[in-house]
Amino acid sequence: MCGIIGISSNKPVLTDIINSLKKLEYRGYDSAGIATLSDGEINEIKSEGRVDNLEQNFDLKNLKGNIGIGHVRWATHGIPNRINAHPHSSHNVSVVHNGIIENSTILKKTLISKGYKFKSQTDTEVIVHLISENLKTAELEEAVTKTLKQLHGSFALGIVFKDIPDLIVGARRGSPLAVGYGPNENYLGSDSYALKSMTNKITYLDDSEFCIVKKDEVNFFNEEGKKINKKILELSSDEESYQKGDFKHFMAKEIEEQPTTVKTGIKEYLDNVNNDVNLFNFPWKIDEIKSIKLIGCGTAYHSCLIAKYWFEELTSLDVNIDIASEFRYRNNRFKNDSLYIFVSQSGETADTYAALDLCNKNKMKTCSVVNVIESSIARNSNYVLPIHCGPEIGVASTKAFLGQILVLYILALKLGFLKNELEKIKYQEKIKDLKNLPNLIEKTLLLDSHIQSISSTFNEAKGSMFLGRGSSYPIALEGALKLKELSYIHAEGYPAGEMKHGPLALIEEGMPVVVLAPRDNYYKKTISNMQEVIARGAKVLLITNKSDDEVVSENIWETIEVESTNKDLLPFLLTIPLQKLAYYSALKKGYDIDKPRNLAKSVTVE
Ligand code: M6R
Repeated sequence: MCGIIGISSNKPVLTDIINSLKKLEYRGYDSAGIATLSDGEINEIKSEGRVDNLEQNFDLKNLKGNIGIGHVRWATHGIPNRINAHPHSSHNVSVVHNGIIENSTILKKTLISKGYKFKSQTDTEVIVHLISENLKTAELEEAVTKTLKQLHGSFALGIVFKDIPDLIVGARRGSPLAVGYGPNENYLGSDSYALKSMTNKITYLDDSEFCIVKKDEVNFFNEEGKKINKKILELSSDEESYQKGDFKHFMAKEIEEQPTTVKTGIKEYLDNVNNDVNLFNFPWKIDEIKSIKLIGCGTAYHSCLIAKYWFEELTSLDVNIDIASEFRYRNNRFKNDSLYIFVSQSGETADTYAALDLCNKNKMKTCSVVNVIESSIARNSNYVLPIHCGPEIGVASTKAFLGQILVLYILALKLGFLKNELEKIKYQEKIKDLKNLPNLIEKTLLLDSHIQSISSTFNEAKGSMFLGRGSSYPIALEGALKLKELSYIHAEGYPAGEMKHGPLALIEEGMPVVVLAPRDNYYKKTISNMQEVIARGAKVLLITNKSDDEVVSENIWETIEVESTNKDLLPFLLTIPLQKLAYYSALKKGYDIDKPRNLAKSVTVE
């Protein structure tokens, strides 16, 4: 989390820093700040809250300078207030930081004993003083190398110096950082998105590297301070996909983009002529894979959970799933014949990246299902399956979820077929059904006004539950996550069959309960569970798929029917009403839909 921007130019940088910070707000938005260098001084401004507050609280005309750094924060150490906002500056050094310095307490003690004074509660301030201390006895490159070695934990840094006023130092360990190249100016940014309006020429720093960015040159160094060469990548510039267009929120736009997400995935992975799946350059022989481990966080973890049902249905592979933050600290038994799959929209989630790193260190087969193909997770995986859904800006993941489950489903089909566990005829039928999925998603999106009218009941309730069985269970979890994340309403996702083992005690008169009961093998069982919650006073919203058989149950409060299709594909359709339910409920409450409280899009701290 936290967003960093740095610009070294031959013209004033303030406006570009402000614009980049606004784009970076999806990484954190509890405070913001800027430091520029001019007339031999560091000028610093910072504010609690959004970047807009900087514009409102300060006369920005006074913030001159052709070189500067900026930051949007997602608090780790110290409450989100003005003092803890970045940059942190002394009279001669100013630092912006994304990450956590784990040994900050001990470093702080030593620095205090040397006479340094601290103003904030952050871990970042130690970097300011540490580098000042090291600059007393060493030239810049050596002082940076020494400072980085003294820091434990994760960081992306941007640093400017009063006495070396023509450069910005950037450094990375764990947290992402990119360099961009422009005409008579160069940039530092947390990601290419922040730099997009200024350049499409990017170099990504790898772990433990640092760089010195001047307006007319950039130099890169390894952890020993030795100069290294790095590649410049040219990214495609599609500014439009970074705009809201006619939509009120990015989330609304991203929900509506889902037919395109699925169409693009189909185009990338399906061979229309042979009715087959293309996994270009898949690096392993099929017999080398006996089991699968799927790892992710949040919504990406829910994708893993659904994929488990598909892999178990379509292949005989042993399938396990894990939340990345749990996996990375467990005593794992690594297996050479296992394929480790990492699922992540951003490709920068700290826990998922750490889990991947652990697998790489143990020489496992690693594959990532990511949206951002230039991300750390993609760059460090043996094999990458991109989801091609375009930038997802809303903090709540929507189209990336559909993109992830699409790619995982396609992978399950192909592995099942290659392992001779899915007959050719069934394999090709399923591929055919898949091609019609965008069309079905489009129809499901039309259920809009019905869902909108239902959403106020959720807002009036103290809490709600989402129930499902089989592959509808992960969708229930995802629906509950979306509602709590956006509307701040307590929502629990549960396997419907678990209710009697405790959660049924939560049901009281009028409590909204969403029951996902598509016409699959679990249908009758789920309907029985639904009747049990209705009998205890729940207000049930049943989400099922269209069928000639009427639902045999009384007292259902509301029913939503999605289109009917091959049962494997129903999770795609069931997801959409739940995304919309969360959206409309937050909209009615007047909450900040694209930037819910306490959250950030890219979770780059553990
Ligand atoms: O970028 P990632 O897919 O790795 O992010 C994982 C989670 O942080 C993310 O899915 C989060 O749960 C979403 N905000 C949920 O909508």
